[in-house]
Amino acid sequence: MTESSRDTKTALITGAARRIGASIAKALHQRGYNVIIHYNHSKDDADCLVESLLAIRANSAVAIQANLQELSDLDRLSESATAQWGHINLLVNNASCFYPTPITDTITSQQSDNSTKLVDWNTIIDTNLRAPYFLSLSLADELRKVNGAIINLVDIYAERPLKHHSIYNISKAGIAMTTQTLARELAPEIRVNGVSPGAILWPENESTEQNAAQQRIVSQTPMARSGAPEDICEAVCYLAASSFVTGQIIKVDGGRSLYL
Ligand SMILES: NC(=O)c1ccc[n+]([C@@H]2O[C@H](COP(=O)([O-])OP(=O)(O)OC[C@H]3O[C@@H](n4cnc5c(N)ncnc54)[C@H](OP(=O)(O)O)[C@@H]3O)[C@@H](O)[C@H]2O)c1
Repeated sequence: MTESSRDTKTALITGAARRIGASIAKALHQRGYNVIIHYNHSKDDADCLVESLLAIRANSAVAIQANLQELSDLDRLSESATAQWGHINLLVNNASCFYPTPITDTITSQQSDNSTKLVDWNTIIDTNLRAPYFLSLSLADELRKVNGAIINLVDIYAERPLKHHSIYNISKAGIAMTTQTLARELAPEIRVNGVSPGAILWPENESTEQNAAQQRIVSQTPMARSGAPEDICEAVCYLAASSFVTGQIIKVDGGRSLYL
């Protein structure tokens, strides 16, 4: 490891091959961070992003694959990420799993077989809640050494539930409490904060019916538009650079939560 690579801050961003995670990785890279682009299935996107960042600055980006549902992958990810440049300054828990899990289905399947709903529970809770918690603990010793920080991507639905998404809502309420409880546990060496997006990027391949719901959401947003990934990046970069803010969750939602 060279002297300059020790001086350069390093960030691990989960789920960073595409969409909001990729924008966060680019924003942190632009602010001088070396970035570890974690991905699960999106290898081509991750490789492409790394290539574009390396073209800007040599030895400044790398991609690492891990399935966050596997506890063994979490340990491997934290070890490989730390080994890359010898230190980690920032963990951004961005990866997430989002799909509807209507309660009516749960009740029906409970009468016969709970196994389908248990798969949904494990998939969403393990990805959105268990993985950020254990990844934070795995990296705590390294983050402590450099007075590092953790930033969790939450959701405004952590406080006011989105209909038909009970497991997702529960997972995001859990990550909100993870943010606060780890801020207490890991202080004063490590700061832990969150960003709660409103409507930023719609899920891909939405139906016409869902498009109508999107229009309703925008019409209920005081800023009268959906947000952009850059709006989230601004908040992440602020929290990464601050030194006295911990245990806070910033809503970046165009004011939508005022009406939920
Ligand atoms: N989009 C919005 O408007 C919005 C609104 C509110 C909150 N948020 C929050 O903001 C964050 C980013 O949102 P987004 O819409 O950009 O996220 P996304 O596209 O739904 O997911 C980001 C990445 O998570 C990764 N992922 C999912 N399951 C995984 C697993 N088991 N192991 C490893 N990686 C896994 C996927 O990586 P691969 O593609 O590599 O498989 C995916 O590309 C999320 O935490 C989300 O809950 C977003």
